[in-house]
Amino acid sequence: MEKKQLTWGGRFSEGPAELMVRIGESVSFDARLAEYDVQGSKAQAKMLAHIGILTEAEAAEIGDGLDELLREIEAGGFTWKAELEDVHMNIEQALTARVPAAAKLHTARSRNDQVATDMRLWFRAHCEHVIVRLRNAMASLLALAERTQDVIIPGYTHLQRAQPVSFAHHLLAYVEMFDRDAERFAQIRERANVCPLGSGAIAGTTLPIDREFVARELGFVDASGNPRLTRNGMDAVSDRDLFIEFSSACSLVGVHASRLSEDFILWNSAEFGFVHLPDTFTTGSSLMPQKKNPDAFELIRGKSGRIAGSLTALLMMVKGLPLTYNRDLQEDKPPVFDAFDQVALVLDVIAACLPGVELNRVRCAKAVEDPLLLATDVVDYLVRKGVAFRDAHHVVGALVGLAESERCPLNKLPFAKVSEVHAALAEDWVEVFNLEQALAARDRVGMPGPKQVAARIAEWKAELEVG
Ligand code: ARG
Repeated sequence: MEKKQLTWGGRFSEGPAELMVRIGESVSFDARLAEYDVQGSKAQAKMLAHIGILTEAEAAEIGDGLDELLREIEAGGFTWKAELEDVHMNIEQALTARVPAAAKLHTARSRNDQVATDMRLWFRAHCEHVIVRLRNAMASLLALAERTQDVIIPGYTHLQRAQPVSFAHHLLAYVEMFDRDAERFAQIRERANVCPLGSGAIAGTTLPIDREFVARELGFVDASGNPRLTRNGMDAVSDRDLFIEFSSACSLVGVHASRLSEDFILWNSAEFGFVHLPDTFTTGSSLMPQKKNPDAFELIRGKSGRIAGSLTALLMMVKGLPLTYNRDLQEDKPPVFDAFDQVALVLDVIAACLPGVELNRVRCAKAVEDPLLLATDVVDYLVRKGVAFRDAHHVVGALVGLAESERCPLNKLPFAKVSEVHAALAEDWVEVFNLEQALAARDRVGMPGPKQVAARIAEWKAELEVG
């Protein structure tokens, strides 16, 4: 016969089977909530003293006991017990063994509103952690953009050479993506900042608790300092929207990081040869001595799938659950923690790897020599001469076809042949093929002209407060 369960074992004649303990425990992953569990319990104790259920002395003792436990936990000296299921019961039992008044701590509280509170505190903190890392990655992209501003590369659509862009402009596209990500995490942090404590198991309590007091204690307040409370206890204990939103935002970071990685992997291939990756973020082959593989970026690409998997796991878990709390919901934490851990790692790697990236300027210059990159500029030349765009497009299409059949670069076609295609094509048409001029002309917001790119870099530097 198993030992009776210490917290809820009253109505049971036997304790749980060993396999029940194994499937039921969450302390192996929710122990990382200890800091937030302690914060929540300290606020709860203060509130219970405020309404006269604990004496001030008892609340103080509980607060000190919790601080001491947290110090032990953080120093690695605390023994977690699977038979106590989760972080909440482990801490409560350890505390009660030292501070008998802690037997009153769970008054008017359930683990359902307790874990909801812990996780909202966790989301609040970890949205900030992601934002800091996003900004580091952005600063790293920005530094690389700044020192490569003069390098022009082909921009691609369908992975076919399309139009020339500056390398910096390409990098700044990722700065935009990470900025949107940061905004998303700031919004999620806002939505997390609401206090569910006091919802009890589902239906609150008959005791005269002060929910506003707890919310203020935990900083669940609006800009004017007014407490923000969840308004439906059944929703509060079963709502997992934040988990899904957080994992979704992580998935998007993963997708952005993966696309960035793919660009660097391509650019690093011998076929492109635009960039050299640092030795410190590449690996060799156990067989082929010449290999230097872009593993860091490949792993980021791979991890984006894993992060999206967390989002899927959460959606599948919640779908079809009747209100309110069901134990299924205990499985909500591993995907969220993993999504955070992977996103943090991915962003740290991007921030650390980019400073070591060097450009192969010769290869970049060679790639943008292709005159076809400026075929659209020839269309613009004709439009400036009064030719309708659709006609101009056809005319340049014919020139490209001619260059192809003559096996001749577009800009080297003999003028005699060119002028036969359309009367508006004058001898000055070849002046279109000046790359610097072509870029300089792209001088409106959002375009890759050097003035625009320099302005964007300056704006981002001010925004990110980097030198
Ligand atoms: N460890 C549990 C979880 O994360 C805490 C809530 C337990 N509630 C319950 N009714 N058994 O979901």
